[in-house]
Amino acid sequence: MEPASKPSKGRGLIARTLLFGVVVLLLRFVYVVAIRGGSCTSGDFCFFSLPDELSLPGAGGIFRGAANVRFAEESVVSNELRRRWTSRVWPKAVEFYAAIFQDLVVQGFLSPTSKCLCIDTSLGQEVFALKEIGIADSVGISKNKSPPLVITGDALHLPFGNNTFDFIFAGRVLDQNLRLGHLAEEISRVLKSEGFLVLLTGSAGDRYSLHSLEALFPFCKKVRSREVDGIDSLKTLREIVFQKEELNLNVLHKGEEGENDAYPSSGGILVNNCPVSAHKLQLLRSAEPLIEEEPLKPWITLKRNVKDIKYLPSMVDISFKQRYVYIDVGARSYGSSIGSWFRKQYPMQNKTFDIYAIEADKAFHGEYASRKGITLIPMAAWIRNESLSFEVNHDLEKKGDEKGLGMGRIRRDSLSSGNLHTVQGFDLAEWLKSTVTEKDFVVMKMDVEGAEFDLVPRLFETGAICLIDELFLECHYNRWQRCCVGKRSPKYENTYGQCIHLFSSVRDSGVLVHQWW
Ligand SMILES: *[C@@H]1O[C@H](CO)[C@@H](O)[C@H](O)[C@H]1NC(C)=O
Ligand SMILES: *[C@@H]1O[C@H](CO)[C@@H](O)[C@H](O)[C@H]1NC(C)=O
Ligand SMILES: *[C@@H]1O[C@H](CO)[C@@H](O)[C@H](O)[C@H]1NC(C)=O
Repeated sequence: MEPASKPSKGRGLIARTLLFGVVVLLLRFVYVVAIRGGSCTSGDFCFFSLPDELSLPGAGGIFRGAANVRFAEESVVSNELRRRWTSRVWPKAVEFYAAIFQDLVVQGFLSPTSKCLCIDTSLGQEVFALKEIGIADSVGISKNKSPPLVITGDALHLPFGNNTFDFIFAGRVLDQNLRLGHLAEEISRVLKSEGFLVLLTGSAGDRYSLHSLEALFPFCKKVRSREVDGIDSLKTLREIVFQKEELNLNVLHKGEEGENDAYPSSGGILVNNCPVSAHKLQLLRSAEPLIEEEPLKPWITLKRNVKDIKYLPSMVDISFKQRYVYIDVGARSYGSSIGSWFRKQYPMQNKTFDIYAIEADKAFHGEYASRKGITLIPMAAWIRNESLSFEVNHDLEKKGDEKGLGMGRIRRDSLSSGNLHTVQGFDLAEWLKSTVTEKDFVVMKMDVEGAEFDLVPRLFETGAICLIDELFLECHYNRWQRCCVGKRSPKYENTYGQCIHLFSSVRDSGVLVHQWW
């Protein structure tokens, strides 16, 4: 067997060598035709290095000739990269970015001496385009190994010192479900003050998301925002140019023209200090209207209204938030709203929400222990830290208990009953302020059996209301009963009018509130 196998191995080697030669020739042909648009002269080691006078078809750099792009030797240039470089798409993308950068040069955001960073440029097209228009000091960073223009690294831990770059470009990384708060902090850290940050994103098409995006960069001011056609004009992209400001406490409270005008107070008990900007007012106008007139059959009218709710993420893009948080105040069992409604029906735009279940009734605590992604707060949401009397009644699982006994209702009267338990109440507003920030997307459902008339004013008083993006609020009042025509529920004293006042005050503060049932 030995003697026979040797010549065959030899033949195999010859065949492989020949095949390799053919592949090399083919690739060289593709390269010459597709990228250089010309022939390869003998002295030109043109396969593995691009000529100094690089010219991509149509790229038309205004600093043509200054570019000195030299790809590394064969050993570094993987076959995969070579395939990309010789593909049709590559020069097109380079041309696209070159046009974007040229415009930024013309506008003065970028200059031939700028030190530039492109974030998450897995193919290096952005860096290549920068070099092509004569900006030599450019580097890219990507998770994937893609030398020589791009170094391997994590966008959330940029391997550069503070204040390193004059210009940072971030494109597709923004549309990738990353932890944008961290990314924004890293970008702000490595950008020099007065330096420019350019974002190019397929999101930020509406004012809400543009506003969220700006909020991620509190130390930068927006100097330009415009729409551009994407590669192949298939999709419209938004280009936003930020400039980093000197660290200065004033910028923490910076506002835009017309953006921070406090909405006139509605004259009610709720004094509202949230900055209500135009983008929020616009949303509130698109929301389902409040049912101003008291329904005679609330169990039908209000229940049906839940179907008409216009969810915030069905109106705007929520991509540019640091964290996504759902808080269920009065959560009861997992299945009562978190499982049956929020996780099933809320349009989460593929985001992962951190869920907080606030429920004082011990009977429901056990089932949360095994639920992933849910933090149980086994206390009653209240306006301060204190012990409370709390009605617990498990025999009355159905809605509309007419006997005046509640499920999870906080009692301030000294009425003694076998169904009263003592529970720990905590300050919901303070907790909210220590748990979320304005950069987070916060959805809250509140069903607290009448305590909303204490909790909502407290949220206003502390400013915590401004942290909530969307609120589903059940307002408990002396509603008409199903059982007995012409009789109101004895459980609650507040009227429907007071409920509507509560809802309008919340909307006036710029928070999208829905009438929940
Ligand atoms: C770099 O900036 C970060 C915050 O942006 C700061 O915490 C850190 O101390 C700075 N590092 C140096 C070496 O100045
Ligand atoms: C969510 O992800 C799926 C699959 O990854 C995708 O088809 C869908 O368009 C995404 N939806 C949104 C709103 O981003
Ligand atoms: C209320 O309780 C929470 C936690 O239980 C605690 O962090 C907070 O400091 C307390 N607030 C006051 C004012 O005592």
